[in-house]
Amino acid sequence: MTSTSTPSANSLREAMVREVVANRAHVGVPLSPAVEKALAQVPREAFLPGLDLKEVYTDQAVVTKRDNKRGVALSSVSAPTVIALMLDRADIRPGHRVLEIGSGGYNAALISELVGADGQVTSIDIDAEVIDRAHRCLVGAGYTDVHLGVADGEYGFADRAPFDRIVITAGAWDVPAAWAEQLVPGGRLVVPKRIRGLTRCLTLEHHGQGLWSALAQDMCGFVRITGAGEHWEQMPYLNDTDGRRVGLRLEDGPDVDVQPLREALIQEPTTVWAEVLIAYDEATDAQDLWLATVIDDWALLTADPGAVKAKIVKPTWNHGTPALIAADGASFAYRTLRRHPDLENRWQFGAIGHGPSGPDAAQQLCALMEEWDRHHRGGPGPDITLVPAHTPDDQLPSGRVVNKRHTRMVLHWATTP
Ligand SMILES: C[S@@+](CC[C@H](N)C(=O)[O-])C[C@H]1O[C@@H](n2cnc3c(N)ncnc32)[C@H](O)[C@@H]1O
Repeated sequence: MTSTSTPSANSLREAMVREVVANRAHVGVPLSPAVEKALAQVPREAFLPGLDLKEVYTDQAVVTKRDNKRGVALSSVSAPTVIALMLDRADIRPGHRVLEIGSGGYNAALISELVGADGQVTSIDIDAEVIDRAHRCLVGAGYTDVHLGVADGEYGFADRAPFDRIVITAGAWDVPAAWAEQLVPGGRLVVPKRIRGLTRCLTLEHHGQGLWSALAQDMCGFVRITGAGEHWEQMPYLNDTDGRRVGLRLEDGPDVDVQPLREALIQEPTTVWAEVLIAYDEATDAQDLWLATVIDDWALLTADPGAVKAKIVKPTWNHGTPALIAADGASFAYRTLRRHPDLENRWQFGAIGHGPSGPDAAQQLCALMEEWDRHHRGGPGPDITLVPAHTPDDQLPSGRVVNKRHTRMVLHWATTP
């Protein structure tokens, strides 16, 4: 495919590709030459008409449709770094038949470059407006052989199956049976998957009979899947003053009685410090997933910036900080962080407990962070297996079981000595 863009778009695109290559090298997962070539070839401006070229070639997602009532993004053209990672993980080869669930046009064009003339790209979206837009953009950029369809991705797209690869570009709570049925044996599914409120991009290999294992797990963020697979977790507020909200995200977690926890929040908290240090810019995602695996009564604490400013809570991240609900149902603890009092450039994890057994809960959370530090820090992530929902307990591998509608997901961490 030949780009008809202006030289300035070309040079901005080259700079963006260099940035994506550098980002990937920085995290130790180099970009493959095939994906680099595709990124260099697809004119992103054709998928973001009207947007300033500098914005087009900034490595960020651009929201193209928003639900103004809920204040959430419904559709976007994804960030090149994220897309590049997913395409690499998918290992898309010339001649492959690929299904993309969640359209925008840009990613479909990249896939089209990767599969070449002998391959086949199908891109579906639940939203007809998104497909209309993707159609206009793809045709405008010269990608006329991408097959577009308006359909709920929960059911895959049987008319064009089987697929060698399925790439999901919306956040999924579960993996429906259709995705397994429509993949060739040994095919790969790349899916941003929600696990107890955290999202990880899983690269899953299908072993037949609805049995999947993860080949890789990466950080990513996507708009939620809607339609039959849509799933909303409980998100009660512990403080609902406008601009100072504090909430709990209880996905795949316990059912809680909110009132005692609301009362706990206004009681004097207890802070406990753990012997676990990090650098300021160090990611916490590995610890987050481990804590989500080992804590039964798991929650993520969320806070408006105003709640942090007013010192109602001091979480490590406003959008979702690891927390545990105590057995009394009237206390909880969440993770916090402070600049280490003695060590330069080091930060120290701690836990803040609220409620009658808040101090114990904070101690417990610190003890878990210390266990992670001793046995899991720097190690590989968990082995992740998915089996059909009807699989009995005695046939599951060992590990934390997270039950979904169609599957049971098992996370198993090997202990590093
Ligand atoms: C992040 S956007 C896709 C970005 C796109 N792949 C690109 O090229 O940059 C996510 C899309 O998923 C779509 N979506 C959400 N739920 C869906 C479902 N059940 N089936 C198909 N599409 C869905 C949304 O309408 C939205 O357009």
